[in-house]
Amino acid sequence: MFEAGFGVTRIAGASALTLGLTLALPGSAVAADEARSPTFTRDIAPIFQDKCEACHRPDSIAPMSLKTYADVRPWARSVKARVQDRQMPPWHIDKTVGIQKFKNDRSLTNDQIATIVRWVDSGAPQGDPGDMPAARQWPEDQGWNFAAAFGQKEPDMVITSHPFTMPAVSQDAWDKRVTPTGIREPRWVRAIEIRPKTAKGRRIVHHAIAYLEQDEPGAPAPLGLPTPFMEWAVGKQGELMRPDAGKLLLPGSKFHWDIHYSQAGEEITNQVELGLYFYPRGHKPKFRNTLQLVPAALGTLDIRPNTIAVAEGFTVLREAARVESFQAHMHLRGKAMMMEAILPTGQKQVISHVNDFNFNWHTTYIYADEAAPLLPKGTILKVTAWHDNTAAKKSNPDPNQWVGWGDRTVDEMAHAWVNIVYMNDHGFTIEVEKRRAMQAQNTEQQQ
Ligand code: HEC
Repeated sequence: MFEAGFGVTRIAGASALTLGLTLALPGSAVAADEARSPTFTRDIAPIFQDKCEACHRPDSIAPMSLKTYADVRPWARSVKARVQDRQMPPWHIDKTVGIQKFKNDRSLTNDQIATIVRWVDSGAPQGDPGDMPAARQWPEDQGWNFAAAFGQKEPDMVITSHPFTMPAVSQDAWDKRVTPTGIREPRWVRAIEIRPKTAKGRRIVHHAIAYLEQDEPGAPAPLGLPTPFMEWAVGKQGELMRPDAGKLLLPGSKFHWDIHYSQAGEEITNQVELGLYFYPRGHKPKFRNTLQLVPAALGTLDIRPNTIAVAEGFTVLREAARVESFQAHMHLRGKAMMMEAILPTGQKQVISHVNDFNFNWHTTYIYADEAAPLLPKGTILKVTAWHDNTAAKKSNPDPNQWVGWGDRTVDEMAHAWVNIVYMNDHGFTIEVEKRRAMQAQNTEQQQ
């Protein structure tokens, strides 16, 4: 009835008519309402196939399958709760501010959420089994996230870290050994994934970073840090370059791992796999993609017991840039992170705001081609991080502890991982022109 309420302002007459009918024929009105209430087979299964089964199917990363009515029915209330507060599917971007067009958006639309909520509220009925869509086919194992997009089953190359055994009970541990890439000729990379090799391994890998060491005269030098090639943390899918950008790998290159292991109450041996997808031989993309750590804080944080703490960091872009993606990195008390651009004119724009950070989900938000921010030289990236060290934060192990910056999961961090493509001022002008044309075309198509 609430939905009809929206109609009242527009067509008051129609609403009065509905009311009249309800009074005159209560029985048939109820029947009509039932006909309208969503059923699993007709309305819900297609949504779950599209937005949930990627993770919720037998033997996958989620705790339960959501494929069949029998699978789903016991979870109906929990589904409603998680979907309503946008905890599931994991997508923690504030929908009211900043860029909203992404290449990897897995969130539900407002209509889909409303349908799921109405379905649960009306008793989560199965409906006509004949309405059930054909089962969606999935690869047997968890698979690689980007392989299908390139018409492949596997990445072009998989580099594996050394086996590491984490005892059942242990302090956090780091594996910082080195693996040569073994590559024989220069190759440009267009997508990268990192994953723990086994489902069990997922339980002990908190994050994995691969730093690249290679000899390249005149290469863009990062500011005092080794060049991070790829970072992975719980819940991340991977990095996908735009078609005009890539990362270069040279013969003789090596990866320095920084793999952070946490105990899982059971002895587990793990390796981490780095999957690489290459551009065709000889293809050189126009731009080079750099993965940058953009701090709200680095090295110090002062998070007092039972408070919400704020940290801010400012990073100047020394060249014009296109920002490709954003990923917030915090630990158990992470509450929110915002990245803003302060333009040379002084104007400030919100790029992205993760307003409901969840440590289980270090999602990389990859901007759509027509939305990736183009920022002139001299722009400042401002990153603000909020930590909630109160009992209100469910994942907080102890709100009465002071918490500082540190590597362990119980310490905190506050930085964004941002993929950036740098360009000279001339290249920037060309990109801005291209963007205008793209947006004009999009507007035309919408009319
Ligand atoms: C990217 C993978 C992924 C997608 C997509 C996803 N889930 Fe989940 N879901 C998980 C994982 C992993 C967990 C357990 C960890 C957690 O709670 O964050 C979970 C937990 C849940 C839970 C809580 C289960 C419990 O133990 O109480 C519910 C309910 C749920 N998901 C529903 C959904 C629904 C409904 C969708 C689709 C609309 C969906 N999820 C999409 C991975 C996913």
